[in-house]
Amino acid sequence: MASSSPSLARLVTLGATLSAVVQGQFVPAPTDLKEVQGYAGVPVRYKEVPAGTCEQDPNVKSFSGYADVSADEHVFFWFFEARNQNATEAPLTVWINGGPGSSSMIGLFEELGPCGVDYYGNVYNNPYSWSNASNLLFIDQPTQVGFSYSTPVDGYTTDDGHIIMLPETDGTTLCPEYAPAGSCGTYADPDLTQTVNSTAGAAPNFWKTLQGFMGAFPQYARSGFHFATESYGGHYGPVFNAYIESQNADLPAGAKEIRLETVLIGNGWYDPIVQYQAYYNFSVFPGNTYDYAPFNASAAEMFYNNMYGPGNCLDRLLECDATGRDDVCQYADDFCASHVESVYDDLLERDEYDVRELVPDPFPYGFYAEYLNTPAVQSAIGAYVNFSTSSRAVSAAFSSTGDDARRSGTVAALRYLLSRNVTVALYAGDADYNCNWLGGEVVAESVGAAGFADAGYADVVTSDNVTHGQVKQAGKFSFTRIYESGHEVPFYQPLASLEYFERAIKGFDIETGEKPVTNAGNGTADGLYLTSGTKKSTYREGNATVQWDVVPANATYDTVKNVPGPPWPAPSTQAALLRRSMKKSRIMRHRRWT
Ligand SMILES: *[C@@H]1O[C@H](CO)[C@@H](O)[C@H](O)[C@H]1NC(C)=O
Ligand SMILES: *[C@@H]1O[C@H](CO)[C@@H](O)[C@H](O)[C@H]1NC(C)=O
Ligand SMILES: *[C@@H]1O[C@H](CO)[C@@H](O)[C@H](O)[C@H]1NC(C)=O
Ligand SMILES: *[C@@H]1O[C@H](CO)[C@@H](O)[C@H](O)[C@H]1NC(C)=O
Ligand SMILES: *[C@@H]1O[C@H](CO)[C@@H](O)[C@H](O)[C@H]1NC(C)=O
Ligand SMILES: *[C@@H]1O[C@H](CO)[C@@H](O)[C@H](O)[C@H]1NC(C)=O
Ligand SMILES: *[C@@H]1O[C@H](CO)[C@@H](O)[C@H](O)[C@H]1NC(C)=O
Ligand SMILES: *[C@@H]1O[C@H](CO)[C@@H](O)[C@H](O)[C@H]1NC(C)=O
Ligand SMILES: *[C@@H]1O[C@H](CO)[C@@H](O)[C@H](O)[C@H]1NC(C)=O
Ligand SMILES: *[C@@H]1O[C@H](CO)[C@@H](O)[C@H](O)[C@H]1NC(C)=O
Ligand SMILES: *[C@@H]1O[C@H](CO)[C@@H](O)[C@H](O)[C@H]1NC(C)=O
Repeated sequence: MASSSPSLARLVTLGATLSAVVQGQFVPAPTDLKEVQGYAGVPVRYKEVPAGTCEQDPNVKSFSGYADVSADEHVFFWFFEARNQNATEAPLTVWINGGPGSSSMIGLFEELGPCGVDYYGNVYNNPYSWSNASNLLFIDQPTQVGFSYSTPVDGYTTDDGHIIMLPETDGTTLCPEYAPAGSCGTYADPDLTQTVNSTAGAAPNFWKTLQGFMGAFPQYARSGFHFATESYGGHYGPVFNAYIESQNADLPAGAKEIRLETVLIGNGWYDPIVQYQAYYNFSVFPGNTYDYAPFNASAAEMFYNNMYGPGNCLDRLLECDATGRDDVCQYADDFCASHVESVYDDLLERDEYDVRELVPDPFPYGFYAEYLNTPAVQSAIGAYVNFSTSSRAVSAAFSSTGDDARRSGTVAALRYLLSRNVTVALYAGDADYNCNWLGGEVVAESVGAAGFADAGYADVVTSDNVTHGQVKQAGKFSFTRIYESGHEVPFYQPLASLEYFERAIKGFDIETGEKPVTNAGNGTADGLYLTSGTKKSTYREGNATVQWDVVPANATYDTVKNVPGPPWPAPSTQAALLRRSMKKSRIMRHRRWT
């Protein structure tokens, strides 16, 4: 990453002219973390998070801290006990977001964690938290993502997200007046050698973080282990879990066997060769189910040519696949991202992650980022760096190997997990363009799970008696399409996603949640569980929920009507209202944002 540091001389001169030196802009080293040794020799520092920081119930415990996976790599985790049950007997689920470079605080606060943060900066309870069904562990990975850090450095960020380090003068760092307002803070040194540059490269530290956590908290690692992810998790999920299984086969000294039972992946980015083509499919032919056909004949032709024309996106992806060269894959990805994927963004001003909304889209709510940058929260969770939703350094490192354009063995890894009897539950919100369900469905078919070709789409029956989607399932493998949902499914369909999650981790059928499912049997006639229904999922929402005006930033989302709802109700106290004056944090978007 090219980042020009201002010269020391210039800073010292400027520093002398500063009137107000605010040290509070930088994050002090946490002093109240308990130090323990996890499994596999991984040191862990953690603390109990005071009730109300996220989980509102004082009887449900929460812990956060760092797994020090190497001298310069400190991986942040935030754990929540399961609600409504004895947490030491509950299953353990880890959640990670994608990017590459996106923080798992996105999933925690926007999607499936115990709380959210409202327009006024106040924390509210999420009744549909996945912790209603499982202990939940959120991990910011790889190093430098979210609260994870390499070397902590004081600095500021430029308007396009580069971290510029600041020197210390007499043991103090000053925030210079030329730094963009509110941009000073403590950041991970954006050194590309202090993180990883590929999916496969990220697996070992992910595994070490689990070993650290499980050793520090053996009481929460007694039962089965489940893994849930989204978006770039279509790369992370298959590869990380195949790594876990392979480690189990040959455990290093002091390491624990991780009994992996379920892998859930929402709107995953698995296979670029299939999924770059799916951009064309979703917006031109055969199109999406929202009757949103935005392109005229000449724009559609341009789109087609950029994808399929000689030397264009498909050819470049195939060359990447054939050669495996970093430069070829990087160019392929840059070409496809800017000439295929972004045709939509360039022409439509519509959210890539939910075709129903124009940009700027206020959903899912991003207000938590400001909350996480307050001194009170940072000290409550023992953070040592400021919060960023995404790491530019990690994104750049992955880009240098073209990881996004690589298939990275994801489909083979899913097959391997099935052969190990792991439940593999793929799902997709059908209003997402970025990792759209048409591509996801082709990938699911390409896994070739026994019996899957004979299964049909069945309605998913949930407790509210609303049909929220359809599932095609064969034994432990399923692909579920979720209606009226953008990329971050648990935000748009909280009830359906919680019930879906519970069914998957219990090993029950996704359709009803009433039947335990195994991989026993080999076809329709001999007992292998198969859903029955149409070969294709044909339901169409039409354009009733598609918005034609930009939705105001203060709007709530109505998860029953699937449209924008009324503005956030103002809090009763003035103190709470004032929080809204906190600066809006900058958002950097990655290829597979969440
Ligand atoms: C970093 O955190 C500190 C509080 O610890 C806060 O004062 C500062 O505004 C934060 N910086 C950014 C860029 O959010
Ligand atoms: C929770 O489960 C653990 C382990 O089985 C047991 O030791 C403990 O007594 C249980 N706690 C309660 C409150 O039931
Ligand atoms: C989740 O658990 C909380 C706390 O016990 C409860 O109030 C809430 O109703 C539960 N949510 C659902 C959807 O059952
Ligand atoms: C995507 O579009 C291409 C080009 O028209 C077509 O060949 C392919 O069958 C479509 N794929 C799907 C899944 O509809
Ligand atoms: C087709 O759409 C493009 C992009 O929106 C626009 O520039 C062009 O004028 C349109 N062509 C016709 C014939 O409407
Ligand atoms: C990616 O990281 C690996 C392992 O550190 C290194 O060997 C390789 O050179 C890196 N690739 C690029 C393109 O920097
Ligand atoms: C759903 O339907 C069942 C059976 O008809 C009924 O008992 C139940 O009350 C309904 N639930 C809701 C939320 O409408
Ligand atoms: C997977 O389950 C099947 C059927 O229950 C069983 O025959 C097989 O041995 C299991 N495989 C593994 C690797 O556990
Ligand atoms: C499927 O299983 C049945 C009984 O479990 C067995 O008789 C049959 O040979 C198997 N078929 C295949 C193709 O493996
Ligand atoms: C919405 O769909 C209906 C029916 O297909 C169509 O008549 C109408 O023009 C569409 N509305 C917009 C704004 O595109
Ligand atoms: C919400 O935002 C809109 C558009 O900016 C504004 O007109 C309206 O007054 C706001 N409403 C509330 C209750 O804050």
